[in-house]
Amino acid sequence: MKKIKVVELFAGVGGFRLGLENSSKKIFHTVWANQWEPKKQKQHAFNCYNHNFGNSKNHSNQDIAVAKFEMPNNIDLLVGGFPCQDYSVARTQAAGIQGEKGVLWWEISWIIKEKKPKMILLENVNRLLKSTKTHKGRDFGIILRDLYNNGYYVEWRVINAAEYGLQQKRRRIFIFAYKKDINFFNIKNANFDNALDLIQKNGFFAKSFKIIKEITLDNIKEIDIKEKFIDLADVSDNFKFDFENSGCMIDSKIFTTNATPYSNQPKNLENIILNTEVEEKYFLTKTQELKLSLLKDRKRIQRTKPNGDIYYYSEGKMSFPDRIDSPARTMLTSEGTINRSSHIIEDPKTKKLRFLTPIETERINGFPDNWTNTDMPERFRYFCMGNALVVDLIKIMGDTIQEIWNQKYNQAKANKKISIVETMLIN
Ligand SMILES: C[S@@+](CC[C@H](N)C(=O)[O-])C[C@H]1O[C@@H](n2cnc3c(N)ncnc32)[C@H](O)[C@@H]1O
Repeated sequence: MKKIKVVELFAGVGGFRLGLENSSKKIFHTVWANQWEPKKQKQHAFNCYNHNFGNSKNHSNQDIAVAKFEMPNNIDLLVGGFPCQDYSVARTQAAGIQGEKGVLWWEISWIIKEKKPKMILLENVNRLLKSTKTHKGRDFGIILRDLYNNGYYVEWRVINAAEYGLQQKRRRIFIFAYKKDINFFNIKNANFDNALDLIQKNGFFAKSFKIIKEITLDNIKEIDIKEKFIDLADVSDNFKFDFENSGCMIDSKIFTTNATPYSNQPKNLENIILNTEVEEKYFLTKTQELKLSLLKDRKRIQRTKPNGDIYYYSEGKMSFPDRIDSPARTMLTSEGTINRSSHIIEDPKTKKLRFLTPIETERINGFPDNWTNTDMPERFRYFCMGNALVVDLIKIMGDTIQEIWNQKYNQAKANKKISIVETMLIN
């Protein structure tokens, strides 16, 4: 089978690349990768990436806004987990539209426009579907309209890794888009039946992550992003939509519904944590224990709004220590610090309370032990894992990409005519 040429953006320590290579190192060939930690002299994640995948002139360590000009053409698959920001756009004087400066979506958008990757796989926090606060769904609407303008079909799904047999309750949105000429799933019309078929049965996410087949045409919502909105700026100003956890865009029609995962038994923390002796520095001192027990306790705090109004901020009680007979909670970049969200476990050997070790955080994301043990301070090892993703999910998606790519390629060959698809796949 022909290699799939991959470009990895916002590469961090290489979660996408590792997942795809776990699917097939022969097929997925990363031709270019970019990682740059803003405002940091030491580029720990980039160094870790090079340590694990080897130094290469095709690994770029510059702001993507600058580095994008070096990117090769002919990209089969563009991947990346990008920061979630406010994506609003404004009309320029020339009546064109322009994204807010410094918002990374517009870098991705530029790359899509210029390089026309055949497939795109993106990851973000699931909050993306709901943002902004005042225009619910607007930011995702902008992304979809932008992809529509560039000729893509799109599918998305919010996936909680623990619901698919994995070791972390990490809920993230994944977006898979592909050039509509490739039409992986042979969709003829943008209608409810085809949307239902994609979401529930035969589409990219349905193939990768089974759901309970209970969706009916009655619980799918639809909106046409072109019919009702003149352009991106119009979407930016006026779009509001209640996106559900799964959906697709066929031509300019967006369909969305709530999918229930066909849950597999997750892996629990007890299967991950070290049962060997752990260094003393990971164990809590009495003061740390007291601070953390307070941080994780229930609270109701009186606060004052800028206008002087009083309100109460409340937080529920968290399990302290964390249960090890369930998967890890979502790891954040603050993991391993005195923070409410850090995992604290009872060490299986000593029965004393301790933080997770960096190796354990790597296992929670499905990275090999010591992946980030690459000369970076320990604090950054936790930070990088908080930023990364559950690699096993990307492996599953990589398997599906191979399957649909192969099918399309063989189909094009069997047809024995140089169709657009064949030309696209062959080039
Ligand atoms: C959500 S993380 C992605 C982590 C990655 N998927 C992994 O497995 O480690 C986003 C990454 O984008 C990088 N980044 C942020 N701004 C950037 C920019 N302007 N140019 C290039 N990379 C940037 C951050 O340093 C961070 O590593």
